Amino acid sequence: MRMILVGPPGAGKGTQASRLVDSYGIPHISSGDMLRSAVKEGTELGTRADGFMKRGELVPDELVIAMVIERIGKPDCGKGFMLDGFPRTRPQAEALDQAMATAGVDLDAVVLIEVPDELIVKRITGRRSDPETGTIYHLEFAPPPAEVADRLVQRKDDTEEACTARLSKYHGETAPIVPFYDGRGVLVRVDGVGAPDQVTARIKTALSGKA
Ligand code: AP5
Repeated sequence: MRMILVGPPGAGKGTQASRLVDSYGIPHISSGDMLRSAVKEGTELGTRADGFMKRGELVPDELVIAMVIERIGKPDCGKGFMLDGFPRTRPQAEALDQAMATAGVDLDAVVLIEVPDELIVKRITGRRSDPETGTIYHLEFAPPPAEVADRLVQRKDDTEEACTARLSKYHGETAPIVPFYDGRGVLVRVDGVGAPDQVTARIKTALSGKA
């Protein structure tokens, strides 16, 4: 299965990817996680990406495209991959197309997780993650167990201000790739409002028979 999860910031892409990858036996490739690791490690890519990310802006296409295309060429992606947060612009979608055509493989599905803007700020500002396990929590919607509460961290771009900028980038630059995939018959729309279990079930139903 070669698939993409698309949706606004805080739609639940990371939450759903971690629940789905085991069922499909494919790696979860999150461009945001890769960039955050590069920032933490202080690589040249991380140094260049850091400011864009803190402000809620998109990292320039040429940096992100090279990073993700190299990643999906690794042996663990031989049977497929679940991309989360990439592509996010039309040039990124075209670069992915070209790389897949060169590799002689097809895209099976693009899952659009739909969540209204009014819910997004609440989801983003309440998010906390566990740096030891990578588990994503929400102070209200997915409360962490008491034993991990003290070590949880909040992302630098999870402020209300950066969230507004990210939402605006999503509507201006990422949402236009939806018709690109819809026109090719690979797009499935899933309602992202409801308990995470319900959303997982909707995605599995939408993907049945896709690969
Ligand atoms: P990235 O890390 O990709 O962030 P994002 O797309 O903004 O998405 P998020 O990770 O914020 O949200 P999510 O949809 O994964 O939601 P989650 O499951 O955590 O990108 C960050 C930055 O990196 C970008 O701004 C940009 O600068 C850069 N970047 C990355 N990729 C790039 C690219 N391709 N090109 C250029 N720049 C790029 O859930 C959110 C919260 O809601 C959690 O607390 C969770 O517990 C809760 N939650 C989840 N599901 C539910 C539910 N069903 N009900 C209630 N609560 C829920």
